[in-house]
Amino acid sequence: MVLTGKRIVLGVSGGIAAYKAVEICRRLVDAGAHVVPVMTAGAEHFLGRTTLSALASEPVQTDLWNATEPIPHTRLGQSADLILVAPATARVISAYATGLSTDLLTNTLLATRAPVMVCPAMHTEMWEHPAVVDNITTLRRRGVHVVDPEQGRLAGGDVGAGRLAAPDRIVQAVERLFTPRDLDGTRVVVTAGGTREPIDAVRVIANRSSGKQGIAIARAAAARGARVTLVTTVGAPGLHDIEVVEVETAAQMQEAMQACAPAADVIVMAAAVADFRPKVVADRKLKKADGAPDIVLEPTPDILAGLGDAKPAGQILVGFAAETDDLLDNAARKLAAKKLDLIVANDVGAPGVGFQHDTNAVTLLQPGAEPRSVGLRRKDDIADAVIDTVVGLRSATTSSPGPTSAIDPEPTP
Ligand code: PMT
Repeated sequence: MVLTGKRIVLGVSGGIAAYKAVEICRRLVDAGAHVVPVMTAGAEHFLGRTTLSALASEPVQTDLWNATEPIPHTRLGQSADLILVAPATARVISAYATGLSTDLLTNTLLATRAPVMVCPAMHTEMWEHPAVVDNITTLRRRGVHVVDPEQGRLAGGDVGAGRLAAPDRIVQAVERLFTPRDLDGTRVVVTAGGTREPIDAVRVIANRSSGKQGIAIARAAAARGARVTLVTTVGAPGLHDIEVVEVETAAQMQEAMQACAPAADVIVMAAAVADFRPKVVADRKLKKADGAPDIVLEPTPDILAGLGDAKPAGQILVGFAAETDDLLDNAARKLAAKKLDLIVANDVGAPGVGFQHDTNAVTLLQPGAEPRSVGLRRKDDIADAVIDTVVGLRSATTSSPGPTSAIDPEPTP
């Protein structure tokens, strides 16, 4: 987890959105960060200290004048890996832009060399006021990270721009800040979920894939700078910066993949694609009274094998192997037959592994290399291990330009 051990000062200033700081704090702590909360006097009108203190890694601090520590702002500023201000009011933004230090939070902002991220929240009129616009422009120019507010419902029932960005968006922005951008400029296509093959107007043949592993890989690739397309059979909310293509059947997934594969630098097929589908699909609901139907199955197209056959030079093609027996032999066979650069084998019969779980355990196989096992851990961590291997494969093949370089060449001096 990229936030493990990172010391984050969470500045909370006085707006109605202060209550969302609680959720942000909880998520950062869950992600392994050490969160030190600092509240302004305004924030205390909206949020009690006790809630934030209970969830953070240290009790809330509010005061510049502190009996036990004479200069708390320098310790906070100097020891931070990040100062995150959420919500950031017009006052705090203005004070920070002009270098005014009036309370513990604004002093800490000036007493740090750590990165700073501000998440503004205010009424639309204030957010669009030229003074606030100028202050935000100044902060951006100085390298401050700004998570723009969203359109939506504001205090008092008004609707417009200025609502604090959703906590998951803010936490993702924080994670991205600490994540190496080693896929910058690459195009990555990931599949997720299980295909559903219709029997009649209401029934389908499906499998147990939740899409969690594929979605984790899409997120990991996006966090590392890639332009990601996720071809998925399951809805995936909160995927900012990821293009999502929703499909249902193997045929639809194949069509979507054929459209985006030629321009992809990396393809990861984590979806569980049905191997067979009903040969004939009834356009109405089959009647129970007619007795059990004889359903004749036919093979679906092997999407990954087709991508292997058409693979452009430099493209990295990654498959998964879901096995219950002879894991390594079966995976090695698929690696060769589908012309893959990497196959991620999971023993889906083992506890906590594969379908639906939040965890997975995998063995990574590459042509001509020793298999490498990654023990049981969260699917996010498995995703990072897969992406690490992809990055290694890409740097080993830098002499061979991938599709992105062919489409969008660097200007030559
Ligand atoms: O979604 P989760 O609940 O998080 O579960 C994750 C997972 C178990 C689905 C995932 O880890 C996984 O193993 N995905 C691949 C499942 C699968 O279909 O495995 P397979 O061994 O049957 O297929 C081998 C490869 O060929 C896979 O990359 C598959 O996407 C691809 N394939 C298979 C059949 C087909 N007709 N076309 C394909 O492209």
